[in-house]
Amino acid sequence: MSENAEIRYQGQSWEFPVVVGTENEKGIDIQKLRDRTGLVTLDNGYQNTGSTKSAITFIDGDKGILRYRGYPIEELAQKATFPETAYLLIYGELPTAEQLRIFRQRLTENSMIHEDMLHFLTGMPPSAHPMGILSSMVNALALFYPRFYVEDMDAATFDQMAVSLISKVRTIAAFSYKKSIGEPFVYPRADKTYCANFLNMMFDSHAKPYSEDPLFIEALNALLIVHADHEQNCSTSTVRLVGSSYANLYASICAGICALWGPLHGGANQKAMETLSMIQKNGWTAEQVIAKAKDKKDLFLLHGFGHRVYKSYDPRAKVLKNLVERVFSTKNIQDPLLNIALELEQLALKDEYFIERKLYPNVDFYSGILYRAMGIPEDMFTVMFAIGRMPGWIAHWKEMHDEGNLKIGRPRQIYTGPTVRSFVPKEERV
Ligand code: CMC
Repeated sequence: MSENAEIRYQGQSWEFPVVVGTENEKGIDIQKLRDRTGLVTLDNGYQNTGSTKSAITFIDGDKGILRYRGYPIEELAQKATFPETAYLLIYGELPTAEQLRIFRQRLTENSMIHEDMLHFLTGMPPSAHPMGILSSMVNALALFYPRFYVEDMDAATFDQMAVSLISKVRTIAAFSYKKSIGEPFVYPRADKTYCANFLNMMFDSHAKPYSEDPLFIEALNALLIVHADHEQNCSTSTVRLVGSSYANLYASICAGICALWGPLHGGANQKAMETLSMIQKNGWTAEQVIAKAKDKKDLFLLHGFGHRVYKSYDPRAKVLKNLVERVFSTKNIQDPLLNIALELEQLALKDEYFIERKLYPNVDFYSGILYRAMGIPEDMFTVMFAIGRMPGWIAHWKEMHDEGNLKIGRPRQIYTGPTVRSFVPKEERV
């Protein structure tokens, strides 16, 4: 039975339909609110605004649930590969063995980047942040592979662009690292899986050939899967907003990468690790750090804690914490930063400030510890997030265009500036 919600204002009342999702989430459809009442809604930071219906990812932030197309994240992280998770997100179903074989084959065929793009890459300053390089290079893909007019795009062209982005982002990321350390690029290889290929491009060198480590490959696979989608987060909403103007997929995803870079979003993984290092360097106690995080006059923020949607333990952080424990114990790794992180978590979870605000570790708290164990440097952490998020961005861009009733994203505002006034010549201004 359909439901309505009533809005009353200045003695009048109007009914608006309530939209119900498959998990019984409910939202008032206010698309006609302004036409009928003259009012808009005001929601700073979109804290309570549903920008779309979506069938890709479900989150229950109170219960700590995350599912891609219905599959729990814990199960996918344990049993799936990143390419099959990417396929699931983009096309809606897990691939059959044959579909997966073809998808993997296409990832391999599309792993190289146009050689001319290397001039572009080598021209960037050695100090450039890898996220700046990544966003620029992804935007540049549109110049080298210009099959992007959305209006003309058929399914085959989209498939080609999707597979190309998922594959090339990994090559670009590894090349940008090699450039930063002044080593020659290591090209992708057809005989390696998605994750092994990336680690080989990062760490193989003339002086020390890379030898595959199955546990690190498994850990990287799980890391990419837990980052693969997170419904209407800041970067995905950016991809949708940019894509809603019919901007091409590369441009839309370039914008998403820029949004992800921020320290309140994906950039938090680098910040969280820098914070742990800073704590170690300054010899701060966990109590001092928690006190700093609570002090409103102190600009210090405990990155890797808190979330807009999760008001309980982030399920991705749970997966990663278990993975850290397994990798560290199996390989007998000792990292003092892990001990600091564990101590901070323990203290924060008992602290009234954190309890009241429902602040728990998020995905960025433990991911850096794992990357560090694999030898991935701090300034590459957010790039790792971007490699993982690529299928999610692509899936949302596709869902938005497939829906058929695409509306350009264009929020309203409540204007608070001066009312009309006449121009004053400069001689008369005071
Ligand atoms: N340390 C200390 N206090 C915090 C923290 C934190 N990490 N996060 C939130 N708070 C406080 C905040 O000051 C506010 O307190 P008060 O009510 O007294 O003003 C309250 O908790 C609510 O926080 P908010 O910033 O209003 O919540 P939000 O939903 O707008 O922001 C957030 C969510 C993730 C931006 C925020 O929790 C934060 O800045 N966390 C640190 C950065 C971080 O780890 N980001 C990664 C998020 S997960 C990966 C991703 O999806 O991008």
